Amino acid sequence: MSSRLFTWPMSSRETIMLGAFGPRWFERPWRVFPGFIDGSRATQWFFETLQLPSRRVTCGQAVSWAEHILPEDSSLFDFFLRVPSMLGIESCAQLLCWISRYVDGEFINEHVDKAGDLQMILCLQAPPREHGGELRLEHGTERARFTLAPGDAVFFSATTVRHSTTPLRRSGSVPDPIRAVAVARFTWNS
Ligand SMILES: [Fe+2]
Repeated sequence: MSSRLFTWPMSSRETIMLGAFGPRWFERPWRVFPGFIDGSRATQWFFETLQLPSRRVTCGQAVSWAEHILPEDSSLFDFFLRVPSMLGIESCAQLLCWISRYVDGEFINEHVDKAGDLQMILCLQAPPREHGGELRLEHGTERARFTLAPGDAVFFSATTVRHSTTPLRRSGSVPDPIRAVAVARFTWNS
């Protein structure tokens, strides 16, 4: 991959977004940032990561989808590496990043993750909202539903927030819907 040639410093917009909520805002169950990065940059990363090796994964055996592990020498990994300092976190013991790519009929069923202190979802590609792919979050009595557009980001506690997406649905105008998100799992202490 030639993406190592390009690095993406966190822009002032991203810094302002993360800083605007004050320290430790990320301890809330979730926080959504529409337009966290430019949609065009998200689209560029979508096409770059299409070329990565993928495997089929399942969650609870309900359905499978494609997952690409993000190499550490990629510009998108570089981008995620910069996030902890924007949150005021001085060190991050582990960062694991992957791309989840869903096509017609695919979704992730409701679950909580087993590891990680904070998870970030960055939407790289999504069909119009009537084609599914809605992200659903639930924590105690709080519930939220979001249809992310390319460039939107969500931070959440994946080990305590139940999360899922709705199946993608094709249509005559969009016969091959694709939803791709980059996921970063941050672990502060090993
Ligand atoms: Fe998850």
